[in-house]
Amino acid sequence: MRKKIVAGNWKMNCLQEEGQKLTSEIVNMIKDEPTADVTVVLNPPYVHLHAVNKLIAGVDRVHLGGQNCSDQASGAFTGEVSAGMLASFGASYVIIGHSERRQYFNETNELLTAKTRQALDNGLQPIFCCGEPLEIREAGTHETYVKDQLTASLFNFTEEELKKIVIAYEPIWAIGTGKTASSEQAQDMHAAIRSHLAGKYGDATANEISILYGGSCKPDNAKEIFSKPDVDGGLIGGASLKSRDFVAIVQSF
Ligand code: PGA
Repeated sequence: MRKKIVAGNWKMNCLQEEGQKLTSEIVNMIKDEPTADVTVVLNPPYVHLHAVNKLIAGVDRVHLGGQNCSDQASGAFTGEVSAGMLASFGASYVIIGHSERRQYFNETNELLTAKTRQALDNGLQPIFCCGEPLEIREAGTHETYVKDQLTASLFNFTEEELKKIVIAYEPIWAIGTGKTASSEQAQDMHAAIRSHLAGKYGDATANEISILYGGSCKPDNAKEIFSKPDVDGGLIGGASLKSRDFVAIVQSF
């Protein structure tokens, strides 16, 4: 059985108290209300890691993740945060290659390989993002585009390493726009990703990889999207900032 995962990507949101309030509310709802067997990951900005880690202590299914990490292990890289630091602050996941990082911070496929390497070497599970912009979707070449992103960044890892990676398919045209991919569009792409992984690593490995959908996933569409056979959860942006909405998405399985 593949792991079901719902990860919240807070992006650059929440002052100190807001982050603590959000975390406490999520933790309390998850403790008090029945939820299916879903791994929950909170990915706050770096400065919240320590506090969030304390607040989730003792709630087995809630985990901590970073939103990014350096491609370097340590040293004179002012402003950067290493995968080793994330791990030492209690993180077990890290988002790599979010489209906002690719777009605004010019992160290349090659750089993302190095970041994924750092994550794996430090015991973090990368949540590796891929996804096409609107013009590629309209041109009908989205599957090739996404497969190329995965090949370029991930296909030099070993089978054992690949098994630790979570993939997040996030069509750029659906991120923060309120436009969601239909559940059929999500399923088609997730199946294409899985078959691409199978082509390189074999069916058994491909069937172990959790593939999350991201892009305006909300309580009112999560159930339908998560019902698709190749959709193993979600990477949630906007709706992860509202505790009730985020937990409702967790409960959509
Ligand atoms: P969204 O963001 O849910 O606000 O569309 C998803 C993401 O960027 O991870």
